[in-house]
Amino acid sequence: MSKNIYKNRRDKLDALLPENSVLLLPGADLQYRNADSAFPFRQESSFYYFSGFCEPSSLVAIVKSDKGLSSIAFVPPKDKIKEIWDGYRAGPIGAVEDYMFDKAFDNTQIDLMLPDILHGNEQVLYSIGKKKGFDQKVIEWTTAASSKDRHSKSINITDASSLIGNIRLIKDDHEIDLIKRACDISAEAHIEAMKQVKDGDNEQFIESLYIHEFSKRGARFPAYPPIVAGGENACVLHYVENNCELKKNDLLLVDAGCEFDMYAADITRTFPVGGKFSEEQLKIYKIVLKAMNAAIDTVKKGNSIMMPQEVSEKVITEGLVEIGILDGDPDQLHKDGAYKEFYMHKIGHWLGLDVHDAGDYMEGNEFMKFKPGMITTIEPGIYISSSSNVEDKWKGIGVRIEDDILVTKDGNENLTKKVPSDPNEIESLMS
Ligand code: GLY
Ligand code: MN
Ligand code: MN
Repeated sequence: MSKNIYKNRRDKLDALLPENSVLLLPGADLQYRNADSAFPFRQESSFYYFSGFCEPSSLVAIVKSDKGLSSIAFVPPKDKIKEIWDGYRAGPIGAVEDYMFDKAFDNTQIDLMLPDILHGNEQVLYSIGKKKGFDQKVIEWTTAASSKDRHSKSINITDASSLIGNIRLIKDDHEIDLIKRACDISAEAHIEAMKQVKDGDNEQFIESLYIHEFSKRGARFPAYPPIVAGGENACVLHYVENNCELKKNDLLLVDAGCEFDMYAADITRTFPVGGKFSEEQLKIYKIVLKAMNAAIDTVKKGNSIMMPQEVSEKVITEGLVEIGILDGDPDQLHKDGAYKEFYMHKIGHWLGLDVHDAGDYMEGNEFMKFKPGMITTIEPGIYISSSSNVEDKWKGIGVRIEDDILVTKDGNENLTKKVPSDPNEIESLMS
């Protein structure tokens, strides 16, 4: 993997950072599951985006001065004993040679060196409020830097979340390739699950099937805890217990996507455990699918990101009126938000290194417009819990369909269409 990718991304900051500023990118720390058992390390996404460096407790400072841009990395020191237990460390020399930082130091030097790096600059930028304890550290380094010369200009602390997020929002070719791979792997896992699920399986077994299918294709981890929800469990939007027995006449909603080489896929499919949709399940399913297709059609360069939201609300409202779950004029019901009892979440979110990826949704006072290189999920749903005030025959039906959509120059590309969403295709795949 060429480290040039990351150096080129850092170089692009030259045009975006103010003169006499320092951008701080803190990496992730090791997280512990219990006692001293650590989770496998996962680098913080923005740090990774600009560095490609995957060791914990690192920090990169990008300094923009009238001499141009320079990058300074702080990384775990070389340590023979620690490397025997936990594996190779690049150390400062490796960080410069292999990751093309201009300078690198042991991370034990951060508190000592950061005030000197900040001193004489007018702004320090970083993502405020994202890393626990880091806000306090920045205040301490900035205070120490300012106290070096009380007559110099003060150093303003500026939030860099939008700056960084909006760079990450437009995916480059390298990222698109990786996301496509994550999407393909995830789609193949959904296809396997549709083929294999049967009456009496436990949700947990289906979850393990996904993890296995991801892993055997090179994606060791899911991008988020999979939701494997049989029957009414689908009405709990963030259901992750995944421990109930599946019943033949129920639908199974699975929201599962892998992380491949740091990039996420996010797919939901809802399919009948017994291989055949009931009449009521099919009616609800077809409304969601219609909303899905109508929403995807609006994901185009220049359209407001609110278009798929509004279109999906309208299609779902009309559908619920047609089958008698809502009563009244669809336009009025839409204005009143009557659909929210059954479709209570938003249509989607940006996708990339994070499953809910960085990037703003507003530009000034307006919703953002789609641009080529953006990737959004489209994920309408209808959820009818047993406490809903509807005829019994609808109760316990929860349906969501979710695809990952790349905005292209001329329209869009559905990166997850490989796994069927058409109910006939699903039934024939399951037969
Ligand atoms: N899988 C998380 C989501 O769909 O937003
Ligand atoms: Mn999603
Ligand atoms: Mn999802």
